[in-house]
Amino acid sequence: MLKINWWKKLSGVVKISGSKNAALPIIWACLLLRGKITLNNVPKIRDVETFLDIISEIWAKYSWKGNTLILDTKNMESNKLSYEKIKKVRASIFLLSPLLMHFWKINIPFPWGCNIWKRPIDSHLNSLKKIGFDYKYDWENIKISGKLKKGEKIINSGFSVSATENSLIANVLRKWKTILKNVAIEPHVMNLVDLLRKAWADIKIRYSHEIIIEWVEELSSDFEFDIISDYIESGTFMVLAALASEKYLDIENARVCDLYSFIEKLKESGVKIKDLWWDTLRVYRCENIKAVDIQTNIFPGFPTDLQSPFTILQTQANGMSKVHEILFEWRLNWFVELEKMWVKLAILNPHEAIIFGPNNLKPAKVTSWDLRAWMSMVIAWLISEWKTRVTQIEYIYRWYENFVEKLKKLWADIEDSSKATIHSS
Ligand code: EPU
Repeated sequence: MLKINWWKKLSGVVKISGSKNAALPIIWACLLLRGKITLNNVPKIRDVETFLDIISEIWAKYSWKGNTLILDTKNMESNKLSYEKIKKVRASIFLLSPLLMHFWKINIPFPWGCNIWKRPIDSHLNSLKKIGFDYKYDWENIKISGKLKKGEKIINSGFSVSATENSLIANVLRKWKTILKNVAIEPHVMNLVDLLRKAWADIKIRYSHEIIIEWVEELSSDFEFDIISDYIESGTFMVLAALASEKYLDIENARVCDLYSFIEKLKESGVKIKDLWWDTLRVYRCENIKAVDIQTNIFPGFPTDLQSPFTILQTQANGMSKVHEILFEWRLNWFVELEKMWVKLAILNPHEAIIFGPNNLKPAKVTSWDLRAWMSMVIAWLISEWKTRVTQIEYIYRWYENFVEKLKKLWADIEDSSKATIHSS
């Protein structure tokens, strides 16, 4: 159980962790490299541990040194993989290409949208079909098998992050040329491209959301690579600073270059931000928040994963502000929980809602399947002048590294009695 005691004036410095959305596909891509790879800045979170557990089943070795992960995929064998372990992975769609490139035949649980939103997978399946893989699926499973076809192929990634990542992994060693159209260019996708390029993959990016992959005979290993910091975590702490700091919070490793649209909206809301030095931002407390509308979009637009923290800011704004979530159909589900906390709002349709602020947040028994919404509710509890007791807190540990420790370091009065932490050593 997490105990959060009301309203403390936060201060200090927070260091942002490595990005989970970059680390997960990159760990899987390392299976193609067949050697030793040292990954720096890997977040120690539950999903990474689950991935490593699966990888070790096919005899890949790994060890940790702080947040550095040393992977050895040299003597990997085509061992059998336990379906039960794969089932533990929240978004099994991310395993599609890495496992296929290893086994050529897989059976994975159908990714039923993680209970948060509809998650179509047409782009993934169509891309794999084009390069030689047939699939069948039912209510529970997807079965895919085949062999890589040679030749030039044009593949539509539908601006999907995971479909772009799956296609990159499936095609870097495919003969001869692949043209990926409508690719996602989110920072974590580019981090994966950088890893593959460092391993001598021939990948070119065109300005028109297009990636060209030319065949290389093999990929190299025995190098070090840095996972980017999590710009979604940075954005979340920026909102926290605006609402709950005594004067300001300093945010280290903030990835300013990835947050342009988000920072613009914060500034429009009246939040003062100072660029201290390379990727360290000082975000000041804002007493008079202006109501500002947001519309989520693909990168470099306003990130869907920062919709929920920004909404908490909107609940404290003076006036009416609109949230337009264009990417996912059910991602405003958690607004029902906000209503329980006495936020005045109107849900217009599955994609749009209006918040009437400012609101005095009240404690309530809330829940969510969306990790970003969970973390945003932690901000809500920190700024509400009540004592809050929260269960199901292990959910956040799956994605946010040391989040209780980080908040405590900023002098938040927060206690986790579940001992659900994964400590970095
Ligand atoms: N889409 C299709 N067809 C497809 C695939 C996607 O229509 O075959 C649509 C989706 O319905 C959605 C849009 O494309 O409207 C974007 O979905 P995308 O496939 O890009 O999402 P994803 O790859 O499943 C990743 C992140 C999410 C993040 C989205 C959007 C990871 C592990 N997950 O998901 O992150 O919200 O991209 O940026 O990288 C999170 O971190 O909390 C999280 C959910």
